[in-house]
Amino acid sequence: MHIVLLGPPGAGKGTQAKKLFQEFKIPQISTGDILRAAVQQGTELGKRAQPLMNAGKLVPDDIMIGIVEERLKQADCSKGFVLDGFPRTLPQAEALERVLRKLGCNLDRVISLEVPEEILVERISGRRICPTDGSVYHVLQNPPQRAGYCDKDGTGLIQREDDKEENVRERLKVYSALTEPLKALYRKKGLLSEINGVGSADGIYVEIRRALAPRNNAPGVRLKSKTGKKSR
Ligand code: AP5
Repeated sequence: MHIVLLGPPGAGKGTQAKKLFQEFKIPQISTGDILRAAVQQGTELGKRAQPLMNAGKLVPDDIMIGIVEERLKQADCSKGFVLDGFPRTLPQAEALERVLRKLGCNLDRVISLEVPEEILVERISGRRICPTDGSVYHVLQNPPQRAGYCDKDGTGLIQREDDKEENVRERLKVYSALTEPLKALYRKKGLLSEINGVGSADGIYVEIRRALAPRNNAPGVRLKSKTGKKSR
């Protein structure tokens, strides 16, 4: 199962990608997480990416394409993957197609999570993350048991640098200008499913599962979870 999750900042891509991973054991490839890890480790990539990310701008295509190509070649992607945050531009989408062709596979579905801007801003401003294990919380919608601390390892939660309000506006602008147009491309290929991203995370996941189910006359996905049960 080869899936792309599209959607503006705060749409819930990471939240839903984790659910797909839990059920199907296909890796979540979050380019944002890869870049944040590079920043934390102080690598050359991290040094180059940090000012761009903090300003809400995109990291150049050639860098992102190289990262994703290397990642998709790894053994854990042989049965599929969920791309979370890639592609974000037309050159990235074209490169993804080339890489998948080389690897002998195709995209099965592109899920676009649709959320109005005022809800996005509210979600992003309440988001807190665990710097140790990457767990994502929301101060109101998905609070940790002890305010300010990760449920899993007790680390103090932090706010992402690019989640400050002025950066969020820039990220939303960049999404509309460069990423949203990819929906037309994937619609034309018959791969796009637009899903209402407002509601409970579990309810949205049910809609995603429905969109992934095999359909007549379309490149479908045979859903088989790791429990061995077919999804329908
Ligand atoms: P990235 O990390 O990909 O950020 P993003 O796309 O802006 O997405 P977010 O992580 O903000 O949101 P999300 O959709 O994953 O939502 P989440 O599930 O966390 O990228 C960061 C930066 O890296 C970019 O700006 C760019 O600089 C760079 N970059 C990355 N990829 C790149 C690429 N391909 N090319 C160039 N540059 C790249 O949820 C958000 C909040 O809402 C959470 O608090 C969550 O708990 C809550 N929530 C989730 N679902 C629900 C729900 N149903 N109801 C209520 N609350 C919910």
